[in-house]
Amino acid sequence: MGFDPSDSRPVILDADPGVDDALAIMLALGSPELDVLGICTVSGNVPLDIGTGNALKVLALLGRDEVPVYPGAEGPLRKEAVYATEVHGPGGLGDSALPLPGRSPAGDAVSFMIETLSTRPREVTLIAVGPLTNLALAEAQAPGVLKKAREVCVMGGAVDEPGNVTPVAEFNFFADPDAARQVLRSGASVTLAPLDVTHRVALEASHLAQLPASPAGVFVREAVRPAMDLIGRVQNRHRIYLHDPLAVGLAIDPSVFGFETVFADVETEGILTAGQVVADRRSFSKDGNRKGLPVNCAMGVDAGRFLALFLSRILPSAV
Ligand code: BDR
Ligand code: CA
Repeated sequence: MGFDPSDSRPVILDADPGVDDALAIMLALGSPELDVLGICTVSGNVPLDIGTGNALKVLALLGRDEVPVYPGAEGPLRKEAVYATEVHGPGGLGDSALPLPGRSPAGDAVSFMIETLSTRPREVTLIAVGPLTNLALAEAQAPGVLKKAREVCVMGGAVDEPGNVTPVAEFNFFADPDAARQVLRSGASVTLAPLDVTHRVALEASHLAQLPASPAGVFVREAVRPAMDLIGRVQNRHRIYLHDPLAVGLAIDPSVFGFETVFADVETEGILTAGQVVADRRSFSKDGNRKGLPVNCAMGVDAGRFLALFLSRILPSAV
C-alpha cells in the first residue's frame, strides 16, 4: 500500500546550515512522511546571516522556494558565539558555490515557532539540529510552548560517547549550554539523537559515487568534500557523520533506532565541562531519585537501514 500524504507529520526544522544541516533539509524535504512548515535558522556552525542564506540556497536548489525561512537568534543566550567554520568552511557549505536566491526570509523564527505551536497544539514536531537558542527563547517568551509540540527531536549532546568539540561536549550543546539545559528542563517531549548514535552513521566516498552528476548531486559532493578531507586526515578514513539527518530520521521512522530513558541535565558553568550532558547512570540509583530529568535518547541505530533510507530520499532530489 502506498503512503497516504494525509498521514504526513507537520514539522518545523530549526538549523544552523552547515553541511549536515543541508543534508538534513534535503532528507526532510525528500520524505513524504514530513510536511515542512518552515525552516528556522540560528547562529551556530556559521553566523546567522550566512546560515539563513544557506537555507535559502538549498531550498532554491531543490526547487522548493515556497518553504519559508525564518531567521532567529544571532548568538547564544549568555556566552560568546562559537562557530564551526573549520569543519563546514567559511561559507558553511564546504566547497559548494550555490547562488544566493533573490527572495527574502520570512518573519522571525521565535514568533513563528510560538504561533505555530500555539495554534496547532500537540500536532507539530520540532526538529532542532543547531544550538537550541531559538527554542529556549520561545519558551522564555511563551512559557509552556515547547510542551505544545508533539515531539521535540534534537541532535545534540553526548551521553556515553566522548564529545566532539571538547573532551566531553558536543558542538550544539557547547555552543549554547544554557539553551540546551532549558529545553531539557522544559517538560517538552524531547527525543535526543546524541553523538552516541550520530557517530555510528557516516556518509563515505563510496556513497558519493552513487550520486548523479546533477546540480544537487554535484552540490552534495562539493559540500561534503572539505569535511571529509578533514576527517580523513584525522581518522584516516574519508567520511562525514550524518549528525543532523539522524534527528530528522527520528521523526520519519523511529523504528530505525533503539531508545533508552536517560536521566540527564546539561552543565552550563564548567571551565572544562560546559555543554556536557551529565547523565545519572549510577547503577545503585533508582529512577525515582536520579539527578536530572528523564530524556528519551536514541542510543542505538541500524546504520545500514538509516543510510538506505537517507540515500533513497536524497537521491531523487539529487537527480
Ligand atoms: C552538530 O554540530 C554541527 O557542527 C553539526 O551541524 C551538528 O548539528 C554535531 O555535533
Ligand atoms: Ca547543525
